[in-house]
Amino acid sequence: MATRGFFITLEGIEGSGKTTQARRLAAALRRRGYRVVLVRDPGSTSLGRGLRRVLLHSRQALSPLSEALLFFAARLQLVEEQIRPALARGWVVVCDRFHDSTVAYQGDAGGVDPAWLEQAGRRVVGTIMPNLTIVLDVPAGVGLARLGEAHDRIEGKGRAFHERVRKGFRRLARREPKRIIVVDGTQPASTLLEYITSLVHARLPRQNRRR
Ligand code: TMP
Repeated sequence: MATRGFFITLEGIEGSGKTTQARRLAAALRRRGYRVVLVRDPGSTSLGRGLRRVLLHSRQALSPLSEALLFFAARLQLVEEQIRPALARGWVVVCDRFHDSTVAYQGDAGGVDPAWLEQAGRRVVGTIMPNLTIVLDVPAGVGLARLGEAHDRIEGKGRAFHERVRKGFRRLARREPKRIIVVDGTQPASTLLEYITSLVHARLPRQNRRR
């Protein structure tokens, strides 16, 4: 089925500020008259919340490939339950993380072949790929300092790991410069929001506006 909505994802390392920006972007777009669904990957479905607990708080070691497959399962459920129906209704979907996170975290940083994850991940989501992805780019030291102490398994993987994640996102942006825009995440949150909102607004088709 052809989708009519517009799909935006926000990506970045821990402490990049993407969750704040996703929330504020959704609110800003609503104020401008768009119909918006805000979701988070993993999360926003019952399976996603359950798998999130396992992925972030399990005491047992998980291999990077096991992690990727669990992230895929959570994502597929999110696509089917929330994203695809919203896009079919012509709504704007703002999603906190998506496919690129698996390639950067489990691939570039975790050691699973990024090309394999790229292909497998695209098979999982099918036609539901973002129209626009914004990467909030901050050095790993800055992101981790913003967090303070690590709260979960993945946050606790160390600075070198998160620097590889950051490089992964930048590599993906070079490969798909039309879809993925890298934004300097060290700017003040209000400056960032203004810039991101204008970027999104310029690309949104008029048909997505509230009549
Ligand atoms: P969040 O707290 O930013 O929502 O992300 C949850 C954690 O899961 C974060 O450490 C990044 C990690 N993650 C992956 O490792 N692979 C993925 O595919 C996704 C979506 C998140």
